[in-house]
Formats: sequence, C-alpha cells, structure tokens
Amino acid sequence: PVRAVAAMAHQAPASLTELNALILATPAFVSGGTRAVLGEGPLGARLALVGEQPGDQEDVEGRPFVGPAGQLLMKAMAEAGLAREAVYLTNAVKHFKFVPRGKRRLHQKPTGGEVKHYRWWLQAELDFVQPRLVVALGGTAALALSGETLAVTHARGPRRLGTHDGLITFHPSYLLRLPDETARREAYATLVADLAAAKALAQ
Ligand code: URA
Repeated sequence: PVRAVAAMAHQAPASLTELNALILATPAFVSGGTRAVLGEGPLGARLALVGEQPGDQEDVEGRPFVGPAGQLLMKAMAEAGLAREAVYLTNAVKHFKFVPRGKRRLHQKPTGGEVKHYRWWLQAELDFVQPRLVVALGGTAALALSGETLAVTHARGPRRLGTHDGLITFHPSYLLRLPDETARREAYATLVADLAAAKALAQ
C-alpha cells in the first residue's frame, strides 16, 4: 500500500477514497498534528462546511467537529434544519497544529503559508463532492477557498469563493471565545441564520 500511495502522489487521485489515502499517508505540514482528520459526509452533498483545522478532540478521535466547537456547530445546524449526515464537513488544514503546554495541547492558528500548502487537498475533495454551496466557517476557511484575506465581520454572507458559490459566517470557536454573553447570543443567532440561508441557497 505504501508504494501504491507513493505512485498516487505523482498523479491526480481518481476518487475521494484515493485522495483520502494520499492525505493519510502524507506527514503533517504543521507542528503537532499527529494524524490527518479527513472530511466526512456524502459525495454529492448539496452543502459543504469548511472549518479551520481539527482541534484536540478531533485529533484524538480522527473525526471533524466532534469537540466543543463542533458540538456548538451541530446545535446551530440542527436549529437551521441541517442534519450532520446530509452535509460534507471538512477543514482547510487537515492536521491539528498545537504546542504542548503541560498536559494540554494549545491550538495554534495556521499561517497563510500553511493554509496555502493544504489548499490543493481542499480543492480536490470539493471537486469530488461537488457541493452546490460551500460555507466558510471563519477567516481561515475563507482564505483557503478564495485565496483572499477576508475579515469575517466585513465579508459575512453569500459570495463567490474561488471556484465555488459560497457563504462566509462565523467559526463556532469564535463564539466560544466571546467574553460577553449578549454578544455570544447575538453571534450564535447570526450563525444559525447564516446556516439556514446556506441551506436555502443550496436547494
Ligand atoms: N474547529 C474546526 O475548525 N474544525 C474542527 O474540525 C473542529 C474545530
């Protein structure tokens, strides 16, 4: 299998399964990241959601959006009428970038160069999934999809993101970090409304 993957590295993967095998066999390009966390969801999903990178819990379980931010996202998706199984969930960066701090592993934001390095995989997987709309959760996903630095507070809402019809909204971790309860509640309502709008646009 190692030789098969090495051979694949020199040619475009013919399927999402082949692409995923290639991703799993490639060492992390960021510090930390013990394993690649692959995208999850059906081929042909109408909607794809792109986050920044797997977090601690995702790295442990090997699945996207299973930690605190993922749980908040699932709650918001449910309120927007979106089932986890119906959408394609993935990340701009496929490995958890962190620094060890005692027993904890502290999340590190990927650099622009790192996001660029991972971009090819994201584009390739979306080419296989063929969603009608791609939701960028936060600025890192927006950068990965569009190649542009976009501030979420200014660029929120539907817009073309590279080769895809897209929509930019808040990353759920941003909500978790907001210190003010009222601001958090407002941002959460906005996230739910944006996800509902994305669902409608992808019909
Ligand atoms: N945050 C992300 O951006 N992606 C995950 O998978 C989990 C948390």
